[in-house]
Amino acid sequence: MNEAGHGRAGGKLILLGEHGVVYGRPALAAGLARGTTVTVRRGAGPVVVSDRAEVAADPRPVRVLVDAAPLFGLAARDLLVEVRSELPPGVGFGSSAAFTVALLRALAALAGRGLSLADELALGRRLEAAFHGTPSGIDPAAAALGSCFAFERGEPPVVRPVRPGAALPLVVAWDGRPRSTGQAVGALRARWEADRARYERLFDAVAIVVGQGTRAVESGDLAALGVAFDANQALLAELGVSSPEVERLVAVARDAGAFGAKLTGGGAGGAVIALVRDAHAVAGALARAGAHTLVATIENQAEAA
Ligand code: PMV
Repeated sequence: MNEAGHGRAGGKLILLGEHGVVYGRPALAAGLARGTTVTVRRGAGPVVVSDRAEVAADPRPVRVLVDAAPLFGLAARDLLVEVRSELPPGVGFGSSAAFTVALLRALAALAGRGLSLADELALGRRLEAAFHGTPSGIDPAAAALGSCFAFERGEPPVVRPVRPGAALPLVVAWDGRPRSTGQAVGALRARWEADRARYERLFDAVAIVVGQGTRAVESGDLAALGVAFDANQALLAELGVSSPEVERLVAVARDAGAFGAKLTGGGAGGAVIALVRDAHAVAGALARAGAHTLVATIENQAEAA
């Protein structure tokens, strides 16, 4: 029996199709090299400690541990979990899913058990529901795969690796104000209930843009992908999940020369991604506008599942 188990999983960026993906439309996402590392040791638990104060103060990671440990023949009361994360929470980097998949890997290592990709996708999605309602499962898929992929929800989800024809230079920007994916998803659900025809039409339009953008990624056509980013952002605004702050950062990125820019993830605040030619110029403009920024390149070497 091992004394400690280690696991690591990466964060993600949704490139196109957030929200529509909850309603069965396709989305395109990419794994990030930045991620979360989890170490599980035997001791008096269940305890989760983290280098991020927000995670340490959050009761949900312990709930995930309590649910996940028995899947590996372990008792959460005998486990101490240490989390190190390079992903700021609540921004749209998939920090909850990265934690969940890293924890599954650490528990499997501690128990000396194997964990298939299919297990990671299914368990990751089920456990991630502790963080927000009825997730599509795209976040744990990204954490498990770590590369660029097209996704459609389902049991099991349809996951298709997408190989970028050129590297995709992105700048991510966020203002750091608290926001909630669960609230954005719930409020959109209420609007959809009130007028399904309108929202189904908008989701269909998002699906078309996701198809166009995915082809642009595969052919390495950054200008066409930028057009898809902008078209997706316009539809996200119509869906009611943008915000004045998102619109402001999108405008700053476009004025600084981005091919296109949009919100990423749950929206209603949170992060904006810009597809860029010159990361330095766009990141500088966004920083001068008061945003936190991160430069991330999605490489053209996707190799997955
Ligand atoms: O806010 P994030 O990064 O967890 O992304 C949420 C993406 C949604 O499509 C809005 C919800 C989901 O479960 O797919």
